[in-house]
Amino acid sequence: MIIKNNNTIHLQGRDVSYIMFVNETGDLLHFYFGKKIADCDYYQMKDEWNEIWGFVSNQIALDVYPQEYPAYGYSDLRNPAYQVVNKHGNAVSRLIVKEIEILKGVAHVEGMPELIDNENTSAETLKVTLVDEIIDLKTELYYTVFDEYNVIARSAVIINGADKEVEILSAYSTSIDFPMDDYDIVHFAGAWGRERDMHRTSLTMGMKAEIENARGGSGSQLNPFVMIASKDADEFRGDVYGFSLIYSGNHSTVAKVDQFGFLRVQQGINPHQFSWKLKPGEVFYTPQSVMCYSEEGFGALSREYHDVYRNNLMRSTWTHRNRPILINNWEGTYFDFTEEKLLEMAKRAKEAGIELFVLDDGWFGKRDHDRCSLGDWTVYKDKLPSGIDGLAKKINDIGLKFGLWFEPEMVSRDSELYRAHPDWAIAVPDRIPVESRHQYVLDLSKDEVCEYVIKAVSNILSTANVEYVKWDMNRQITDMPELGYNHKYTLGYYKVMSAITEGFPNVLFEGCSSGGARFDSGVLAYMPQIWTSDNSDAIARLKIQYGTSMCYPVMSISSHVTASPNHQNGRITTLKTRADVAHMGTFGYELDITKMSDAEFEEVKAQVALEKELQTLVRTGDLYRLLSPFETNYCSWEIVSKDKRQVMLFACKVLAVAQSKNKLIKLQGLNPDAKYKNLATGKVYGGDMLMYKGIRINYKMEDFATELIRFEEV
Ligand code: DGJ
Repeated sequence: MIIKNNNTIHLQGRDVSYIMFVNETGDLLHFYFGKKIADCDYYQMKDEWNEIWGFVSNQIALDVYPQEYPAYGYSDLRNPAYQVVNKHGNAVSRLIVKEIEILKGVAHVEGMPELIDNENTSAETLKVTLVDEIIDLKTELYYTVFDEYNVIARSAVIINGADKEVEILSAYSTSIDFPMDDYDIVHFAGAWGRERDMHRTSLTMGMKAEIENARGGSGSQLNPFVMIASKDADEFRGDVYGFSLIYSGNHSTVAKVDQFGFLRVQQGINPHQFSWKLKPGEVFYTPQSVMCYSEEGFGALSREYHDVYRNNLMRSTWTHRNRPILINNWEGTYFDFTEEKLLEMAKRAKEAGIELFVLDDGWFGKRDHDRCSLGDWTVYKDKLPSGIDGLAKKINDIGLKFGLWFEPEMVSRDSELYRAHPDWAIAVPDRIPVESRHQYVLDLSKDEVCEYVIKAVSNILSTANVEYVKWDMNRQITDMPELGYNHKYTLGYYKVMSAITEGFPNVLFEGCSSGGARFDSGVLAYMPQIWTSDNSDAIARLKIQYGTSMCYPVMSISSHVTASPNHQNGRITTLKTRADVAHMGTFGYELDITKMSDAEFEEVKAQVALEKELQTLVRTGDLYRLLSPFETNYCSWEIVSKDKRQVMLFACKVLAVAQSKNKLIKLQGLNPDAKYKNLATGKVYGGDMLMYKGIRINYKMEDFATELIRFEEV
């Protein structure tokens, strides 16, 4: 709901208020974001900032005011939300409110994914039009709020009303001034194979924290999700603010504490290597930034994002369906396979109850290694004589669905495509393009290149029964031909994704980027699951999946059981540990199932049967993280059905410790008055006991011991 009360505008979500007002000079000032409060004309409170000394004598000093979309050059000396170089060559600006509208439904972000409305939610959007009349620059700020959620989704639109071209140097999607200090910033950093490690840092006066990536995609190094947390905040309590950018390109989230201890947080496209020319009358859209508030710590904030993204972001027809349990051949065979071998694997997988066979890299062109053929999306006949259609049919005859790997944004130097269209690869004039994994990136800023990609993938999908696609992207983009290029590329990527996912609405798409290097809410809008990391070791995955779940729904976390010793770090774990961890997410196998012993195979059968019982709960339930692998020798998470009747509890003791008492696990989110039965032992416990006293697990005396316990209300 949005209320306009004289000069005050009040956005109310389920339990949150976001309040701003227009002051007498027409500036749009921020007043409050936090727990829901009653409405009133808060403009009367504006004097509270006047006690702070300002340096401008004849007008208000914006430097001391919390603002909604600050500029630089008009007495606010902090980081601006936007910088537009005007015809005079300076970037000084001041936006004055001209119009305030309250619109039904969600805001629209041209060319990029955005939150959507549906019959279960009721959204309203505030549109504030601001104008800098001196340079004829118009800006529209959009704020979407849902009655059902605690989120505010923000985006901005910049319109050049002048008769000369202007240049945008930066344009954040959101900018918010918290009139208080004493906060921490929590961000998710990493690298290939150890994505989304949780880091917490104190924000102190004068310090600028910038969580940014300029690697072409959202990246494994820093995720476009950041939290600002009160000092006492943890999983279960405390004030936490989330900032999640629905964007898959170069991103930036900046947090800076000013001279008064006030905190400014901004999120949007990374200004590094960015510039965007706007001709007279042209419009620039920023991506959407989804802000969220929780007074109950990280856990409640995550559950909020999970619900919003499941219901109002992810558009795939598979979002609300159980995903087929898959087996992928990559770690089983790498490039070295024949049709016969694949069919042998598929037959055995079918016997185990697996539902989908995915053929990974190596099926096209002359692809026996990673040095050739990307771009040539026609079957490698010597390897697969029946073609993709023939192979798909044979897999279907075994009783499995068939899925296929693509890396459509790429081209190998050694490929027919590159020989025919060398100019389609991204390159900087006069310089040799930078190769990575022996490949170049296709220039998706060009329409003809996007059309080729759409056609090449569509050709395969419309001639063979491919029911799943793994969409990979295995390198970063460094040599960008012009400033702002990465945004053009990202818009091209979204254009391609829209065309293909809309063209094949029944295909299940899985995102991937050297593992989890493009795990962001922009991708999730098109693909309801993402390969979370190439590191498939169960113990490494504790942290990776724990960190990823801070923002992204469990159902989007693709998680496979692979061979032991693990191929990425050599760790030896039991098949049970590997499956227990993989059940938290979209479950599958990625190994040579024909090489398993009979005993292992029987275990796989039982795991597949268990997954079929768990997957609705995992897809639709609420996640509670109970013990952090970042802070303890344990890791525990729990998924509770929305009706609180079904519970899956996962617990791991990472290293065995002699003569130690295992940590108590206090469950969360249960009905305290209900009785819950442990489905394995038949023991019945009160919901209150499970939550308030907790349970102590007797782990096996070995490293990496895990337990997966199911409770059901009786
Ligand atoms: C990187 C992916 O993350 C892997 O799962 C696999 O698909 C390879 N690419 C194939 O080249």
